[in-house]
Amino acid sequence: MERLPGFRDFYPEPLPSKDASSFDLRNYIFSKWRETSRRYGFREYDGPPLEPLDLYTRKSGEEIVGQLYNFTDKGDRAVSLRPEMTPTLARMAAASERNYKKPIKWFAIPQLFRYERTQKGRLREHFQFNADIIGETDPAADAELVALLIDSLRAFGLTSDDFVIRLSSRNAWQEFFTKRCPDPSRAYEFYQIIDKMEREKPEVTDEKLKSLGFSTGEVKEFISAGEPTEELQSVLRHLKSRKLDAFVQIDYNIIRGLAYYTGIVFEAFAKGASMRAIAGGGRYDNLVKMISDDKINLPALGFGMGDVVLADLLAEKKILPKLQAQTDVFLLIEDETLRDKSLLLVQQLRDAGIATEYSLTPAKSDKQFKRALELSSRFTIRLHLKENRAIALVKDLVQQKQSEIQPEEAVTFIRAQ
Ligand code: HAM
Repeated sequence: MERLPGFRDFYPEPLPSKDASSFDLRNYIFSKWRETSRRYGFREYDGPPLEPLDLYTRKSGEEIVGQLYNFTDKGDRAVSLRPEMTPTLARMAAASERNYKKPIKWFAIPQLFRYERTQKGRLREHFQFNADIIGETDPAADAELVALLIDSLRAFGLTSDDFVIRLSSRNAWQEFFTKRCPDPSRAYEFYQIIDKMEREKPEVTDEKLKSLGFSTGEVKEFISAGEPTEELQSVLRHLKSRKLDAFVQIDYNIIRGLAYYTGIVFEAFAKGASMRAIAGGGRYDNLVKMISDDKINLPALGFGMGDVVLADLLAEKKILPKLQAQTDVFLLIEDETLRDKSLLLVQQLRDAGIATEYSLTPAKSDKQFKRALELSSRFTIRLHLKENRAIALVKDLVQQKQSEIQPEEAVTFIRAQ
């Protein structure tokens, strides 16, 4: 039985085949995301992977709705696997905002599902780091979020040579649109054309723009003028104070595909590679209101960063850490009469928080030692009898040192190294 296309099997390292995904890498990426969020005071949350279909059909925009994994459940409800986290967050925030001080700073690492045409960097499931701030209109919040995005990429060893955050503004585009087109219901259609422009054939864009009464020339002129709005200037100032300005540039080619964005929008791109965006986000000041049927009105902003594009980039830049099985101690049992005593020692070491491995069944000593090396054990411990007493022989495989100690001293000895 094959797995479904666009889905991944996550194996522990070493990987069995080229198309296998690494659980160790996934853990590494998640730990960096969590660690950076902690530094910025973001708290972790999660929601259900299955939601009412309605949550997406009205708010996310047609692009994502066309990619939904939706079905009718046994209770006749129209449901969908989550394609993104933002509507869930808006629902959760609307339901519980009174219990939290504003601004709410939350993050999540959901697995998301989109029925996309699979290609490099684009699968049918991915994990996405989401960080959002709810309840703050000041551009200081936008700057804080962009800084978090930058630092969560820097945490992997990426620098301003490797990526750039392209900053833009839906407000600026909205103003551009309304000055020229009197029909606000067609604004999203226009944003979609701009969003796809970099990937689309110029003739196609030209045609689409014309149908809305725009010319490619005036759109291009607006982009190249790139006049930062007041909020963008404020974000730039904040980032400059943090000495993070080298990571950003104003770029009105960015507009974002999702329907709910209202203010500043941005995407993180790998420099010099023809890859898709590593992350994207922006302000969505009306979504909580829309999702709560006008009951709760809270400004909000956030971004999502996918694990697939990020992992590809880290591999390309050769900055992946060594991912391998690792144990602190391998207990070699060479004398089977000492197995019981060895098991007691294994238990004591593990109780003390020391990762300890041993051979479950009798095995030749060279085979056990080979296993210790495969697990990159720092130490081996072997019990042996000396004048009828069990003595522990500890080998430090890194420093190539050997010590003879009493078995009951093993925990203290290992901890002291
Ligand atoms: P998005 O731009 O749709 O935004 O996705 C954000 C990131 O998730 C993308 O830049 C990409 O790295 C990754 N991604 C998206 N789809 C796939 C896929 N099929 N395969 C692999 N990676 C993918 C959102 O989802 C917004 N809800 C983000 C947000 C949070 N906005 C405000 N808060």
